[in-house]
Amino acid sequence: MQSTDLIKPIDAPTPTKPGPTPHVSAADYSSMYAASLNDPDAFWAEQGQRVDWMKPFTKVKNTSFEPDNIDIRWFEDGTLNVSANCIDRHLADRADQTAIIWEPDDPRTEDARHITYAQLHRSVSKMANVLRDLGVEKGDRVIIYLPMIPEAAYAMLACTRIGAIHSIVFAGFSPDALGARINGCDAKIVITADHAPRGGRETPLKSNTDTALLHCKDDVKCLVVKRTGGQTTWTDRDYDCNALMAEASADCPAVEMAAEDPLFILYTSGSTGQPKGVVHTTGGYLVYAAMTHEIVFDYHDGDIFWCTADVGWVTGHSYIVYGPLANGGTTIMFEGVPTYPDAGRFWDVCAKHKVNQFYTAPTAIRALMGAGNDWVEKHDLSDLRVLGSVGEPINPEAWNWYNEVVGKGKCPIVDTFWQTETGGHMLTPLPCTKLKPGAAQQPFFGVQPVVLEPTSGQIIDGNDVEGVLCIADSWPGQMRTVWGDHERFEKTYFSDYKGYYFSGDGCRRDADGDYWITGRVDDVINVSGHRMGTAEVESALVAHPKVAESAVVGYPHDVKGQGIYAYVTLMNGQEPSDELRKELEKWVRTEIGPIAKPDLIQWAPGLPKTRSGKIMRRILRKIAEDDFGALGDTSTLADPSVVDDLIENRMNRG
Ligand code: PRX
Repeated sequence: MQSTDLIKPIDAPTPTKPGPTPHVSAADYSSMYAASLNDPDAFWAEQGQRVDWMKPFTKVKNTSFEPDNIDIRWFEDGTLNVSANCIDRHLADRADQTAIIWEPDDPRTEDARHITYAQLHRSVSKMANVLRDLGVEKGDRVIIYLPMIPEAAYAMLACTRIGAIHSIVFAGFSPDALGARINGCDAKIVITADHAPRGGRETPLKSNTDTALLHCKDDVKCLVVKRTGGQTTWTDRDYDCNALMAEASADCPAVEMAAEDPLFILYTSGSTGQPKGVVHTTGGYLVYAAMTHEIVFDYHDGDIFWCTADVGWVTGHSYIVYGPLANGGTTIMFEGVPTYPDAGRFWDVCAKHKVNQFYTAPTAIRALMGAGNDWVEKHDLSDLRVLGSVGEPINPEAWNWYNEVVGKGKCPIVDTFWQTETGGHMLTPLPCTKLKPGAAQQPFFGVQPVVLEPTSGQIIDGNDVEGVLCIADSWPGQMRTVWGDHERFEKTYFSDYKGYYFSGDGCRRDADGDYWITGRVDDVINVSGHRMGTAEVESALVAHPKVAESAVVGYPHDVKGQGIYAYVTLMNGQEPSDELRKELEKWVRTEIGPIAKPDLIQWAPGLPKTRSGKIMRRILRKIAEDDFGALGDTSTLADPSVVDDLIENRMNRG
């Protein structure tokens, strides 16, 4: 990363077309931020009015980060329903306004669809009745394994309407990963589709689900949306979603939920073990998603908002569905990929729908930057007002291209740092902020970042300092627990640095007090903005009969941000070969999904271990980075000679 000194703050630019007065000015930010910390109860009591309550709350914040008593509650005695907030309350004023613009994978064969709030109400109510008829009750878990089609949003909102807890599994995950999540939360039903078109290819979701369900309880049902009409098998537990919705009543009252009732579970990778089910609850999450969506993107009535994420990730939950719809907005749901049918697809969609706020990941920006400026320049992007970035640090080169070529120097870029666990943005400039390319800059309201010395856990005060990023107090969008394992929640986030939420990221606070995320400090890697635990890839590799041992690390990758570098030790008698390398790549795709496929596999006759048998990952990271000049102390290794072999046969050269 570039030195801070080289980066001059850029004044918030003036938009091409006159826009509305921003919700928050630079002066407002300082006073509102101070108010949010000085009197959180008063601040959040006011913000809590963003949503409609069935029974108003009287308590605002009741949270503890105390060791052995991690307990987080917001608005705890209030009741509400998320689907009523995202749909019903808008019907009086905007029944005919578009809620969702759906943009298909292939624009040459299908048209975009505009779904109004009235239509959304009807479809969600019908799907909610279908789920109810299939036996889904308040508190039951529903797995959603769907392409980016309107039914994915209907399914989410239908669950919230009847108080069921949804858990979305990204359609790129394998049957094994899907099965583990169905079992992990003991789901009653899986909602899937026949096939998922993406980038001109089709993933057989229904057949993946059939395979996953072989390892699940017999009574798990499967509700199938016919997306392509392609061939699928059909068993006794399968139900045709389109047919059932056609028959179902469009009247389904929204149930009353307590603010702290779970809203959804989303599995995410950590540094150890298998993915954990992050639990978000109803009231605090919705208030936080709505507020961040409105303020960080300066969203105004009538704007067209596009977040290019998939609903399989938290970004899609908060900024495709819940935030925009709670605000009565118009949100785009995009089924495709940035480069299909060509590298102008994003800009074509922006121009076609006159997008005002565009939110994507640095990996997509880097890929499109590589495709050349012509793809951008032939489209009219003059409606864009705010650009957003999320998922990984954005390098200054990509930032500048995004700013100059896409935003024409007229659109502020909000570089939003947050996590599955945080529910919404944590550190981010606002459109009114003086920007620094590559910095997440400042905390959102109510967020209290602290920089700690990694080993001692002491707070590092002052500016121009670096350490690990922790948060000193709760915010409404914070996850509440790990599904079925509160101890794991406490251990993962609150045990290394007592009294603080530990993000897992390193950060720097520069001389001006602005924050820069420096990347994960644990064994989590970030591949194309997708979070992956190295332990997960390792356990997939060692499950292969020819593999004795494996260690996986990240290495810098020009487009993906980080690539997956796997060191593999084979069983005695097994010979390394290109075929075996391909076999292992395929194996990992099957065990986890294509996003976990190693980019580089190095055959390792031995791994560098201490005398007590601990793998020295620091050394493996350096070799993977092609930076073995600075290996540091290797004298504690049991067999230092393995390092020479690894260096000699390294896969990443330059
Ligand atoms: O390392 C940080 C990185 O992504 C991680 C969270 O991943 P996930 O839970 O999948 O959520 C991604 C989308 C919210 C963080 O721990 N990260 C996310 N946003 C940024 C970032 N790193 C730097 N800058 C960002 N803006």
